[in-house]
Formats: sequence, structure tokens, C-alpha cells
Amino acid sequence: MLDNPMWLRDNCPCPDCRDPHSGQKFFQITDLPDDLAIGTLAERADQIEVTWFPDGHRSVYPRAWLTAPAAVDHRSEAGKRLWSAADLTQAPEALPEADWHTYLSMPAERLRVLEAVQRLGFALLRGVPVEEGQVLEVAESFGYVRETNYGRLFDVRVEPAPGNLAFTSRAIAPHTDNPYRDPVPTIQLLHCLTNAAEGGDSGLVDGFHAAALLRAEDPGAFAVLARTPVPFVYRDAQTELSAFRPLIDVDPLGHVREVRFNNRSFGTLRSPGGFYDAYRAFAKVLARPELMLTFRLGPGDCLIFDNTRLLHARTAFEQSGARHLQGAYADLDGLASTLAVLRRTIALDELEALFTGPGTGDYLGEPVTMAEHMLQAAALAEAAGASAHLVASALLHDLGHLDGGAELMAGVDNRHSHTGADLLGRWFGPEVTEPVRLHVAAKRYLCAVEPDYRARLSEASEFTLQVQGGPMSAQEAAGFAALPGAADAVAVRRFDDAAKVAGAATPAFAHFRPLLARLLRG
Ligand code: OGA
Ligand code: ZN
Ligand code: ZN
Repeated sequence: MLDNPMWLRDNCPCPDCRDPHSGQKFFQITDLPDDLAIGTLAERADQIEVTWFPDGHRSVYPRAWLTAPAAVDHRSEAGKRLWSAADLTQAPEALPEADWHTYLSMPAERLRVLEAVQRLGFALLRGVPVEEGQVLEVAESFGYVRETNYGRLFDVRVEPAPGNLAFTSRAIAPHTDNPYRDPVPTIQLLHCLTNAAEGGDSGLVDGFHAAALLRAEDPGAFAVLARTPVPFVYRDAQTELSAFRPLIDVDPLGHVREVRFNNRSFGTLRSPGGFYDAYRAFAKVLARPELMLTFRLGPGDCLIFDNTRLLHARTAFEQSGARHLQGAYADLDGLASTLAVLRRTIALDELEALFTGPGTGDYLGEPVTMAEHMLQAAALAEAAGASAHLVASALLHDLGHLDGGAELMAGVDNRHSHTGADLLGRWFGPEVTEPVRLHVAAKRYLCAVEPDYRARLSEASEFTLQVQGGPMSAQEAAGFAALPGAADAVAVRRFDDAAKVAGAATPAFAHFRPLLARLLRG
């Protein structure tokens, strides 16, 4: 990484390079000097500082950022869980389903449903009111409706002069919708209003799983499908749509990213070469009975599915019988955004609940509650101009006490710095968790190296020092000072020690939510 100066400089986080508010970059890649090189490199415990040649610009990079893993594309098979029918119908697995009202009222339930759409390709909401137009409410609960020539929503029922076989009582074989659209709608919703006819059962097939099976069993066929653009067409009196895309779309890393499959709107492929053998081979994999999940939609059920991955189907139904679904399209990017923001909200709600619940308990014989103590530490960090990750560490440093403080005062080391850091690891990177992990060690360290530090400790802190192992030996202190996070941990420790003032006014937890939100891991 340090051997790639253009990359490193392009990622400079300083306020001259990026807008501190939006994080967006001010400069063009061509603005960087052709002869850009690292002038001097100062390696510190938790950050590296680069002075650039030839312009003398300075960049400071947190080590945690330098070593962070690359994000995966959640659209590609690398971010999915592939399935066969049995994977979702045999205990302990169950269909990803939820009640509509619970989904609306409980963020955690919304998270579970939207994660299922992203990871498994679908979810089933039950109890959506049996009223026309409700499918739009469902789409708008996580994203934006994609209007098409069929309207904002479309009715799936027997029509007198159907422009699409979906609007007859025929069986519809597994397919993805609207392959003739570019870009294709990435999410489809089907809301059942009536399903009283004999027949009309639903089926779903994981197209990514089928593609992966084809790749393993017949790599030649897979390769043909991945490189052959296929014309898909749709026309009626007002509309003429066409798109040229492969049946299996593979990203530049070789991962399956989209599947398009629809016999009804497949146009004429000129010069097919070996395409038809490959097409039939894929179609046979898709038709394996063990791949198809079958179920029946009842009134109030709404299926949300990834139209770039799952194929959907229905059996034929009795023409005179009553069957009426309403469908709509939406997109995965909006759903992914809703999911990501929901993850933030849920994480911050959980933390806030710790402050307003167990945090209101006494803090180890000090004249403040645990929540007051941590809020004071964060306020002190903020007032001192500490960087955001240190404000967060100060705010969260004693989270591990929330259910073990009494133990510590009874003379048992509850190792709260470690339990706290481990808990926080669900949400934050090491720049936040490691100062928390080391804040007890930092006390033992400061006792060893700073002559008057120990004398200033509060009575309770002096007591817990004994339980926690007493001052470090000279050798331990040298080992501690060499740790990457030592300086940050000492900084947090100083805010911690000063945050025990009875009745001091501090901002509420809510004040720190935006700062925490920016530090949450994606
Ligand atoms: C559709 C469709 C399935 C059904 O309208 O695209 O495939 O269950 N309908 O009627
Ligand atoms: Zn369809
Ligand atoms: Zn503390």
C-alpha cells in the first residue's frame, strides 16, 4: 500500500483534500503531480504521517484505515447465501417471513427481512392489508417504486386481451421479469389480494445457485452464456422495448452478478453458434425439482424478491377462478441503503439503551452514575479537541462494567475493558475498541511511569487498581508503551480519570450519535 503513492494520496483524509462534512473529494486525479512520491514517512503507534514530494502536502492515515479489509459487492454471489428448496424448508431453517405490522414497528424485524432479501434473494411479508395499492406501501417501506410502461403498479389477473402471458391463467415457467428493460428492475414485489382458484401456486428458484452448479458441471456452457448477449424484446401498441444482455452476467472478478431468464420475451439470436446447447444445459439445471421452493400465496401475503437473481413461477389456475395479485418494481440499491442506515440506527439504539438502562446504576462508589461518568469523559475528550474515534472510545470505555461493576468492587477483576472492547467490536473498528481494551492497562502503566499519577486516583480507582494487578513493572510498562494503541489508551484514561465530577452538566447520548454513526463499520 505504501508502495502506491497515487493511491495513498488519492485517499488523503485531510480537510484540504476532502470536504469534512460530506467526505467528498475536492481534487481531480490529474491534479496530482506526475512525479508524486513519498518524501518522508513518520510511523507512529496508531497512524502514519506522510510528507509528499514535490508539493510538501501532509497526510495522516490511521493504521486501522490502512489495514481495513476491502468491502464485498453485495450484488455479486460473493455476498449471497445460495440455496436449494430444502435449505429453506428443513429445520432449523425456515422461510424468511415476517408479519407486516411487526416489520413496520420493529427496526430489528425490518433488518431481518431486508437482510433476507439481500442474502437469500427474497422475503415474504404476511398480513399486508388486502387492499389495492398496498404493494406500493411495501415498496416504499424500503425504497423507491420503479414506474414502467405497466404503471406504478400492475395487476396480475386474467385479462380479456392480455399483452403478457402473466395476465392469463396459464402456468408461467420460472423466469425473471422485464429482461427487455435496460436497466432491468432489480426488485419485484407481488402482493396477493385473492387466490381462491384451483392452482396458481408459486415457485422460486435461486438463479445464482443454478449458475454456480452449471459452472461446476459444465464450465464451457457457463462461459458461452456469460459472453453471449441475448436480445430480449417486448412490444405492444404503446411500447417497444429491447435489451441485449447475457443470461449470466459475471463481474470483472468472475463472480455471478445477474441472471436473466425469460423464454417468453427471448428474441431472435442471430449466429447462435453453440449458444443453444449451453442455454438448454442451464435451463435443465434451473428445472431441477430440488431447486424450486414451492408455496402458495394467500390474501395479504407480499413477496419481495431480487429480480436479478431469483426466478419466479406459478402453476396454471382455473380460468374462471378468482386470482388477483398486484405487482410493482423497485431497486436493490435503495434497499441496501435502507438496510445500512437501519444497521446504524439499531446499533446506536442498543448503545443508547445501555446508557438509559443499566448505565443509570452507581459507578463503583463514585459520586456519578456510569452513564454520567462516560458522558463526562466524552465531553472532556470533545472539549479537548480529540479526534472522533477518541471521543467515541471515551464515551464507551466502561460499557463492560454495565453488568459486572459490583463484582469488581467485591474484589474480582471483571476484565471490563476486554468485555467492553469485545462488545464494541460488533460495531466499531480497532481505532475505537483498542483504547477501550487498554484503558485499564493504561492506568497501571501511568502508575508506573508518572510519579504523582497514582496519588491523584480516586479512592475507588485505587481500590480497583489492586484488583486489576497494581502498577506495571518497568518491563511491563515498556511493553505497554510499544503497543500500537498505547497513546490513544493513555489519552482516554486521562479523560476517564477526570470524569467523576458530581452533578457536572454533559450533553445527552443523542449529542454523540452523529459522531458514532460516522465511525460505525459498514
Ligand atoms: C408476473 C408473474 C406470477 C404469478 O406477473 O410477472 O410472474 O404468481 N406472476 O402470477
Ligand atoms: Zn413474472
Ligand atoms: Zn471509566
